[in-house]
Amino acid sequence: MAEHRDHSGLSTSTSDVNDSGITSAMSDEPAITATDDAADETVPAGRAVFSITDMKVKYGDFTAVRGITFDIPENEITALIGPSGCGKSTVLRSLNRMNDLVRGAKVTGDVRYHGEDIYGEDIDPVEVRRRIGMVFQKPNPFPKSIYDNVAFGPRLNGQRRGLDDIVEESLRGAALWDEVKDKLKNSGLSLSGGQQQRLCIARAIAVNPDVILMDEPCSALDPIATAAIEALMRQLRETYTIVIVTHNMQQAARVSDRTAFFTVNIDDEIGERTGELVEYDRSEVIFTRPSDQRTENYVSGRFG
Ligand SMILES: Nc1ncnc2c1ncn2[C@@H]1O[C@H](COP(=O)(O)OP(=O)(O)OP(=O)(O)O)[C@@H](O)[C@H]1O
Ligand SMILES: [Mg+2]
Repeated sequence: MAEHRDHSGLSTSTSDVNDSGITSAMSDEPAITATDDAADETVPAGRAVFSITDMKVKYGDFTAVRGITFDIPENEITALIGPSGCGKSTVLRSLNRMNDLVRGAKVTGDVRYHGEDIYGEDIDPVEVRRRIGMVFQKPNPFPKSIYDNVAFGPRLNGQRRGLDDIVEESLRGAALWDEVKDKLKNSGLSLSGGQQQRLCIARAIAVNPDVILMDEPCSALDPIATAAIEALMRQLRETYTIVIVTHNMQQAARVSDRTAFFTVNIDDEIGERTGELVEYDRSEVIFTRPSDQRTENYVSGRFG
């Protein structure tokens, strides 16, 4: 599936894409870094799928998050953690313009996807969401057959041929094929919670995305289904870039390569609660030797 992925062409005009030099930013050539150590510590140039600089998200007059700056590398799992209300979902939704669909939401700052400003004027948000798929907290299959759930996106994109192959490939990719191959006509809603979540992952994969965003994908699942999704995430990382919001610290430590810790900053004068990024590093660092005391308190369970 990886070989026909195409990063370019988010904008409505093809010539703009070429002019903006996106193609060079997407070259498969290895990133050039000063030393191996440097490659470990920072995101090497050219490997960042997202470069977020000074991002702010407001809902009406309320500033939900501000000053968010970090890069998300490709083919890694990046976890967003932090207390409820610190803006994890808000930040996640900003990465594929899902906040466009939230009334009153306004994103400012710079959010680049493979070097391209996804909030640029000529960008097609529908195409952004095809490249950057999303899986939600509560499995939400459509009230359709298993087959039609997976074929939904490709059909919407006008695909008519080869659907059987796409459905099989996507269900295999989501580690669900063996469990459902004999009942593809059954309703997606007839599956267990964990199977439904994998069906939603298959549905996301079916449109051949580049990135999969997951907002607490395991919080409605039991430990066995959670373990299956975590194993699946590690497989998917080979092909996709994954960004996951989780409240489960063990999960972030187990599955993610990098972790961003957010917190809520309370303004003394007006009492406004604004989310900020405290620390972003390799997960091993965040969970064993973070540099900020607030991160230390949170990951060691001493928060609040
Ligand atoms: N649609 C909305 N309209 C207005 N305010 C919102 C909206 N969605 C979120 N907020 C506010 O923005 C802030 C961040 O919310 P967000 O849902 O991103 O937090 P979160 O870190 O994902 O929390 P949780 O862990 O509870 O899911 C909160 O103060 C929340 O009340
Ligand atoms: Mg949330």
